Amino acid sequence: MKVIGICGSPRIGNTEFYINLVLDDLKENGFEVELIRLRDKNINQCEGCYKCIENKRCVIEDDFHEIFDKMAKAHGIIVGSPVYNGSITPRLKALLDRAGFSGRWVSNNLKTEDGKYQWGQMLFSNKVFAPVTVARKTGQTFALAQLTLWATVNDFIITGSNYWTVGTAGTSGRVNANEDSEGISIMKHLAHNMNHVITKLND
Ligand SMILES: Cc1cc2nc3c(=O)[nH]c(=O)nc-3n(C[C@H](O)[C@H](O)[C@H](O)COP(=O)(O)O)c2cc1C
Repeated sequence: MKVIGICGSPRIGNTEFYINLVLDDLKENGFEVELIRLRDKNINQCEGCYKCIENKRCVIEDDFHEIFDKMAKAHGIIVGSPVYNGSITPRLKALLDRAGFSGRWVSNNLKTEDGKYQWGQMLFSNKVFAPVTVARKTGQTFALAQLTLWATVNDFIITGSNYWTVGTAGTSGRVNANEDSEGISIMKHLAHNMNHVITKLND
């Protein structure tokens, strides 16, 4: 079974450290894992053209498609974001907007007689999601809520941990998440929960 981690940081920093803790633990337990760094990718924002409804594919040609294909095949997805001005980062938001919208339309026809939405099985149904956010001081829970809201509207099954899956970083952009012993233990427990839920769902 495969779990991918998507890191919304534009640098190799604290967010990537926390995501890797989860991926490394899952790998030790037999999962295939892959880290996707958005800093290496060109992902434009959704243009709101709605062409994905008919096309069953986003019409913007950039690095979105390779990531979306990996999301479609994964059993579990960890999405991590630094907190920038209280929010997830823009490139991650662009990816999630397009992935959520495309994932909605690729597997639904929605041809109801009265033109009302009647959602069925979606691309991300039965997939397990875990959110992780990192800030120097504050904003982690708002950004965590952004990720959680995205997952809950897209039919993911969300895993939590024994505390909010957030990390703290030092001042002036220090990359020092390795000193956050509580955060490290929360991520390890998150890996345990993802392992448990994905295994049960795919029994
Ligand atoms: C543009 C920008 C905005 C930031 N906004 C916040 C913020 O709102 N709250 C906060 O506590 N830290 C904020 N930070 C600090 C980052 O969240 C922190 O450095 C974090 O470690 C970044 O994640 P990374 O190490 O994975 O890149 C900000 C940093 C930058 C560069």
